This record gives sequence, structure tokens and C-alpha cells, in this order.
Amino acid sequence: MSKTKPVLRSLPDRQRKTRAGAPDALGSFPQVRPRRNRGDAWTRRLTAENHLTADDLILPIFVQGQSGTTDVPSLPGIARHGLDCLVDEVGAATDLGIPAIAVFPFMEEERKTPDCEEAYNPNNLVCRAVRILRDAFPDLGLITDVALDPFNSLGHDGLVRDGKILNDETLDILCRQAVVQAEAGSDTVGPSDMMDGRVGAIRSALDNADLQDVRILAYSAKYASAFYGPFRDAVGSGGALTGDKSTYQMDPANRSEALREAALDLQEGADMVMVKPGLPYLDVLRDVKEAFGVPTLAYQVSGEYAMMKAAAANGWLDNDKILLETLLAFKRAGADAVLTYAAPEVARLIKG
Ligand code: PBG
Repeated sequence: MSKTKPVLRSLPDRQRKTRAGAPDALGSFPQVRPRRNRGDAWTRRLTAENHLTADDLILPIFVQGQSGTTDVPSLPGIARHGLDCLVDEVGAATDLGIPAIAVFPFMEEERKTPDCEEAYNPNNLVCRAVRILRDAFPDLGLITDVALDPFNSLGHDGLVRDGKILNDETLDILCRQAVVQAEAGSDTVGPSDMMDGRVGAIRSALDNADLQDVRILAYSAKYASAFYGPFRDAVGSGGALTGDKSTYQMDPANRSEALREAALDLQEGADMVMVKPGLPYLDVLRDVKEAFGVPTLAYQVSGEYAMMKAAAANGWLDNDKILLETLLAFKRAGADAVLTYAAPEVARLIKG
């Protein structure tokens, strides 16, 4: 009796078709030994199915009104940048070949109101940052965040009345916010607010303002996640927040609903869709990419970054390897690009 017999019996029927419909060419051990192709670096390189390059990376940047930089303790290595430091910081990223950045503002408490007027002030911090960056980096992809939370004294992404997050009243403000950002030079607005109908409303507002070429990156499947904690420290929106965001952000239990959200956003004119957070939601990312075949981005959010940095600082994980592995996992799951605070660090690793 050959020792391999039980193994052979448990292998799939040779006549069976693979999922792609091609004849099953898998064969069996001992003729087939997958380890052969892993035996040398050159075969591993030739047979690698996915690659990570700087072209896959988008860097989120925090801007502040105050000059200079302020470290964000819960995001080691990440700071908020004053307008005076922005060009240097972003220049370092473009020098590394990073194609795009996403701008998020830190607002002082006195600029926040329940009506969020500062969100659509054409001279607000975001617009000023965008004008500086557009001027300094004409070819850089500039993504601006469309949501009210940094400007809202109540901390929510939408207007709040009697404890309720208002949908349609919020849309009006989001549209004005998107238009001032686009007029300042943003070429991609990213609604991250999860109000119903916002992509269509923003598309019409942009078109009516003669801004047809401005893209919309829809945060389509954005979950009500505990992984956003360090981001709320960075933009100063956590303190004011009462309650959670579960009446507008998605339930982490849900998968099919993400397809519905992405479908709606695409019908309303989204150019790219996003799944967020990242690593815990790779199944959703794969679903969305397979269902629609459109540019699909992932966001490796602040809490994911903070976890890796904390473990690396303790010597529990290898910083460089864990960054590269997680970002490659996004690619394997179907991401066309990933927003990550580690973008410059990773671009440097890839280069070196
Ligand atoms: C808010 C917004 C959040 C993030 C991006 N835009 C936080 C939230 O919804 O509370 C999180 C990003 C991160 O955690 O890195 N509009």
C-alpha cells in the first residue's frame, strides 16, 4: 500500500472544472509539488500574483490652522501640519512617487457650530491648503473630504436636530462644501458622510457649477467602526461626539448591504468607490470589486495603523514586514489603491 493513497483519494475529481471553467489541471502529489515554484527567489518573483508599488498608495494628510507641526500621539510618526509646512511634507510624498493625497482638517473648537457654516467657507482651512498644494504640485491628485464632522460642534457627519442626524438638510451643506473645495482646486471630492443620496446631489452641484471634470470618490461601504479612534484625535472631532454614528454608517455585521450602497453611489455618478475600514473588511472589498469592476479603493484606517505601530514599538511585530504584508493583502483582495498613513514609509521600503 502506497503511503500516498489516502491523500490521493481525498483530492478533487480530475474531471471537475475549476471555478473559472477551465479544465482542472491540478494533478496530484507526488507528480505535483507546489514547493518547486517557491524554491528560489526568481521563481517566487515570476509567479507572484500581486505587486505593491507607490502607484497604489494615497497619503491622508492632517492640516491645522496653527503654524508648525503637532504630533498626534495615537498615530506614531504622524503629525498635523500647518500651512507653512504643507509643501515640504507633501513634496516628500510626491518625490517618492505617491500619486495622490487626501486632506483632512483639524479645526479649533471656536470654528465649530451646529450649522457647520465653516464647511462651505471658500476660505476655510481645507480650501487654503488646497490652493497652496494645487499651486505647488499641479500634477498631484488632491482628494478632499466631504463630511461635516470637523466643523460640527456636535461631532457628527451631518446636521443634528433633537438628537437626530438629518439627511436631506445635510445634503445641501455637503454640496456647498464640495463646490468650494473643487473651486479651490481639489480634483476629487470624497464624501465620507454616508448620507443617502449625497453622491447624486454632489454630482449635480458640481455640474451646475461647471465642474464636470471633478471626480467623486464615494466612501460607499463605510462601517460604524471603533477603528476610527485615533483619526478623531487627529482632527479633534472625538470630544464633541455624542452617541455613535450607527444611524448612518454601516453595521459591521452586514455584507450584502455594501453592494447596495456601492450600486447606488455608482448610479448617482461616483467615479471610484471605497470600502472602509480596511483589513477587517477584505471580504467586502472583494465583493465590491467583483460585482462592479470599477476603481475600488480601501482605507487602512487610523486604528489599523495604530495597532501595527504599537505592536512594532513593543517588538511584537516587524514594522516593515507587517506594513508590506497588510498592503499586499489589500491588493490581493482587489483594491486598486489604498489610503494609508504609512504611504511614504512604504514607498521608501518599496524603493529601497
Ligand atoms: C469622518 C471620517 C472619519 C474617517 C475619515 N473621515 C472618521 C469617522 O467617520 O468618524 C476615519 C479615518 C481613519 O480612521 O483613519 N468623516
